[in-house]
This record gives sequence, C-alpha cells and structure tokens, in this order.
Amino acid sequence: MRRPLVAGNWKMHGTCASIKQLLTELTEQALPLSVDVAVFPSLIHLQTVGAQVASSNIVIGAQDCAVQLEEGALTGETSALQLKDIGCSMVLIGHSERRQLQDETDRVICRKFIAAQAAGLTPVLCVGETLEEREAGQAQATVQRQVDAVLLELGVDVLKNAVIAYEPVWAIGTGLTATPEQAQEIHAQIRAHVAKYSASVAQGLRILYGGSVKAANAAELFAQADIDGGLVGGASLNAKEFGAICRAAGN
Ligand code: 13P
Repeated sequence: MRRPLVAGNWKMHGTCASIKQLLTELTEQALPLSVDVAVFPSLIHLQTVGAQVASSNIVIGAQDCAVQLEEGALTGETSALQLKDIGCSMVLIGHSERRQLQDETDRVICRKFIAAQAAGLTPVLCVGETLEEREAGQAQATVQRQVDAVLLELGVDVLKNAVIAYEPVWAIGTGLTATPEQAQEIHAQIRAHVAKYSASVAQGLRILYGGSVKAANAAELFAQADIDGGLVGGASLNAKEFGAICRAAGN
C-alpha cells in the first residue's frame, strides 16, 4: 500500500507575512495522519517555514537545487547539501516551468536528481507533456523520455527513494485539469514502464498528479488506482483548499 503524499508548490509566491498567515491557518486544521504533507516555499522562506512547521507533520522541500553537490563558486545557486542542512527533506527536480523558462534539459535534470539523493533528499521528478505533444499523440513518449533520462541513466533502484509527479504542462495554472481517466492512463503507463525494470520498485513508487488540482476535483483524481496524491500549485496558497485536498487524499 503506497502512502499518499500531497505537496504544495508555492512557486514564486508569498511575503514573510503572507506565508506566516498561510501556515498558521494550515497548521490549525486537522490534517489526516495517513497522508504525508509537504510544502515547497521559495528558497528565502525555507528557514521560517521550517521553524513554523517543526511541531507538525508537515515537511519542507525546495523547488530546485544545483547540479553540483558540494559548495563552490556558483553564484545564485543552492546545493542539495545546503537544502538538507536547512531542514529540507525533498526537492522538486525538473519542474516544467524550469524546463521551459531556464532551458533545463534531461541531462541537467538527471544531474540534479543525483545531487539530491546524494545529499539525502527525496527528489520529486516532474514530468509532463505540452499541449502540442498531447495533440500530436506524443504524451506517453514524452513522459517516458523524461522518466528514462533518470531511469536508464541511473538504474531503477534510484526510484526507491524518489517520487514522480506527472504534470501535463497544459493543465498547469490554466484551470484545465486532466480528467481522472487521462491522468490515470499516464500514471499507469509510467508504473508499467518502471515495472519492466523492477516490479517491486514500480509497486512502491509514488506518482503524484499535478495541474489545477483543487478541493473540488481532488477526490476523483486520488480515487484512481495509480494516483498517489498531488503536487498542488495555486490551490496550495489557500489553507482551506489545501487542507481539503490533503483530507481528500486520506479518504
Ligand atoms: P497549479 O496547481 O497552479 O496548476 O500548478 C501545478 C504545478 O505546477 C505544481 O507544481
């Protein structure tokens, strides 16, 4: 049985005051003990958020890390070891916004994945096709290529301590959610692909769905056999919405 995970990706949002308020409202709610809950604030807020969630079950993660593990002359970068040191337990790797805005390639993403695990962080590998790729019938091939950039390069065992987040690019921040069936189809394909290399790793692998998840559609998505929780953007900035999504994953 895979334990559900609901992760809030706050992206480049929030001020010291607004995140404090958000966390106060979030930690006041009853979150299900059967669900792992993580939040991914901006780098500059990690320490404050970490302190505020310390007495709860919520863990913190970063939205990116450097390709290089050790410290060094890399202005503006943050290493996975520094993230670990500040209290992170997870890190997003290869979010589509970074693939698009920062031209992150599969090769770079693989290096970041290696750095994350070497530092003792759980990488959340983000994959997903664009609308053009979906319309061209390339959704499965795109996602498989993005998974293979890690799987074939590093071997299937690295997925024992990793999470995959399927986030169709066309569903991110657009209000267009993949239908539960569309999401389930890709999730099942990812799991079946991993199972070609190891059935037990595939069975234990948590695959999250992301893309306009909200309280109103979470239960239906999480009811799918291969959807093990969500990576939530916009709705995670609203404590009530995010709390409801966490509860949906616990049902
Ligand atoms: P939205 O939930 O705002 O669509 O964002 C999804 C996402 O990109 C999470 O990483």
